[in-house]
Amino acid sequence: MIYRPIVLDEEIGFSKKKFIVSKTDLEGNILFVNQNFCDITGYEYEELMGQSHSVLRHPDMPEAIFYMIWKSLFAGMEVSAIIKNVAKSGAYYWVIADFSMQRNNYGELETFTSFKRAAPATVTEEVALLYQEMISSERRGGVEASLQYLEIFLEERQMSYNEYLEDLVKAKGIFSSLLKKVNKVFS
Ligand SMILES: Cc1cc2nc3c(=O)[nH]c(=O)nc-3n(C[C@H](O)[C@H](O)[C@H](O)COP(=O)(O)O)c2cc1C
Repeated sequence: MIYRPIVLDEEIGFSKKKFIVSKTDLEGNILFVNQNFCDITGYEYEELMGQSHSVLRHPDMPEAIFYMIWKSLFAGMEVSAIIKNVAKSGAYYWVIADFSMQRNNYGELETFTSFKRAAPATVTEEVALLYQEMISSERRGGVEASLQYLEIFLEERQMSYNEYLEDLVKAKGIFSSLLKKVNKVFS
């Protein structure tokens, strides 16, 4: 079991051109990471293999976001999210993450892949406030309360979750085409 670092209030910045790729089994255990993953997190490739992807979990991340990601993946739907992660040093970094799934020859789910890039401060500042509120809701009423908070937040903006993300990121085109390339590599 990999050790959990002490979380520091220190941000790791990295080039927007660096794409972080990882692949897991259906339980979220890491099967593959690219070199950028190791460079940015500070973990060695061998250290990560077989570990749960939650090794990067940051306490500022609402459980409800991961609940949504897993629910979408098992429903066979690609999903995106803004994620704050902890590196081995304890420093944090924000990513815009695209998740997809791969299937075996029988059409059954086999692996999940994430494709992440640096999230700009304009995106993370807003999302951090939303996540703080979701975490407060979680403390009071669990994931359900947190999801309900998100639902009201989106309703007020008259947006779906995907529209909200697209609006924040405004680069969905680049994203999706790169994601397709990655999916080809892993299929
Ligand atoms: C392909 C893939 C990539 C993931 N990437 C991350 C990640 O970067 N950070 C993270 O905290 N969780 C990530 N997760 C979700 C984790 O598996 C886990 O659900 C999450 O960290 C919450 O863990 P916990 O419920 O054990 O606290 C990923 C899952 C998958 C399938």
